[in-house]
Amino acid sequence: ATNVGILAIDIYFPPTCVQQEELEAHDGVSKGKYTIGLGQDCLAFCTELEDVISMSLTVVTSLLEKYQVDPKQIGRLEVGTETVIDKSKSIKTWLMQIFAEAGNTDIEGVDSTNACYGGTAALFNCVNWVESKSWDGRYGLVVCTDSAVYAEGPARPTGGAAAIAMLIGPNAPIAFESKYRGTHMAHVYDFYKPDLASEYPVVDGKLSQTCYLMALDLCYKNYCSKYEKFEGKQFSISEADYFVFHSPYNKLVQKSFARLCFNDFLRNSSYIEKEVREKLGPFLTLSGDESYQSRELEKVSQQVAKHLYDEKVQPTTLVPKQVGNMYTASLYAAFVSVLHNKHSTLCGQRIVMFSYGSGLASSMFSFKIQDGQHPFSLSNIATVMNVSEKLESRHVFPPEKFVETMKLMEHRYGAKDFVTGKDTSLLAPGTYYLTEVDSLYRRFYAKK
Ligand code: ACO
Repeated sequence: ATNVGILAIDIYFPPTCVQQEELEAHDGVSKGKYTIGLGQDCLAFCTELEDVISMSLTVVTSLLEKYQVDPKQIGRLEVGTETVIDKSKSIKTWLMQIFAEAGNTDIEGVDSTNACYGGTAALFNCVNWVESKSWDGRYGLVVCTDSAVYAEGPARPTGGAAAIAMLIGPNAPIAFESKYRGTHMAHVYDFYKPDLASEYPVVDGKLSQTCYLMALDLCYKNYCSKYEKFEGKQFSISEADYFVFHSPYNKLVQKSFARLCFNDFLRNSSYIEKEVREKLGPFLTLSGDESYQSRELEKVSQQVAKHLYDEKVQPTTLVPKQVGNMYTASLYAAFVSVLHNKHSTLCGQRIVMFSYGSGLASSMFSFKIQDGQHPFSLSNIATVMNVSEKLESRHVFPPEKFVETMKLMEHRYGAKDFVTGKDTSLLAPGTYYLTEVDSLYRRFYAKK
């Protein structure tokens, strides 16, 4: 199979959200901390009616329907998630209901988990399968589904929730450049979920930021050296049209892109102008560790990268700023944003992706874009995703109601023997929702 990659995408996020500006006032932090400091506009969250299983049922059903894909045509289904509802039973098995109904139970794959990286692991598995000798000619399907919730405190505004489904096959409009993958994996305790009685992670925020940037540097180095080996020329950010980052919050994305520019400066890339060289010159002597701690470098590199950020990154930021961190779905929601904003001009372009999951696992890889055939054309993908309407039709909850919902969900986490509220008025038709968890912890869902 050639040009293996993403044929179709759909995205779902809950219709319930809270404005970051209102959350700032409610939390009593200084005005601008979440909106400018973190760079976030809005945060989506699941009410008691929704969870990672319902969101994944919703998005998979929607993708199959809207692109008219027969469930029998799926041969591999992989789920990336870090929201563990059952420690043994995969979310993939939940999704099998859709396929079993159509008479197809011959589907490989289970769930992949490592913080926000599981979606990328799932995607690599599917792409590798289509490129392998085990491929039986059918499509792969990747699902990223997460509800990111934090305890009260500084991390809470970096929550979010969404599910994304991606159809994988040959001759894709979004084709993997399979040879250019750079990976960095290591053992760290920056963010983890050791308390099985709670949905909230234990997080060392500052350490997670540094780990993210160090992983970015190393993945970029590995990506560049593979590119250079195959292409016989240096890679720099001028070789790609867009850079898409895992997006816990927008400020980190701004810092990350500036970091890539600093890397290019250190590697003596020819596109860097004399003026920029002079501005970054004083930081040449910093050790690696010092460079992660230098506020001055952070400031100057963001300044010199600003015009390139506006061109190559800003179009990728819409959904992550509006929905928040979606963990495994975050990177792909940023990718959805550039498809939404730029679908008519992407042909022939290269898009570089950076995936990071705490703990840690990280990879940099890239897509080459070409126009696919209906229904897998870029313009149809943008139409199906319908991002603007989904964002605009949301219901803004006041912060008090958001906090109340978080409290209820804390009680419900790991609980049994309850039914959910009957009011589904905020959900769009076709949305799956949780109705009941019985005395044996079995979950029941219905479709609106
Ligand atoms: N106006 C404008 N900016 C402000 C204001 C204000 N009133 N107040 C603060 N800021 C800025 C700060 O200067 C800082 O920006 P800077 O880093 O450019 O200097 C930013 O807002 C955040 O303020 P901090 O004081 O650094 O925030 P705090 O430490 O309270 O929390 C953190 C931020 C650590 C990111 C926290 O939200 C967190 O732990 N989140 C979860 C972990 C996370 O997302 N890590 C990322 C990678 S791992 C993953 O994806 C889970």
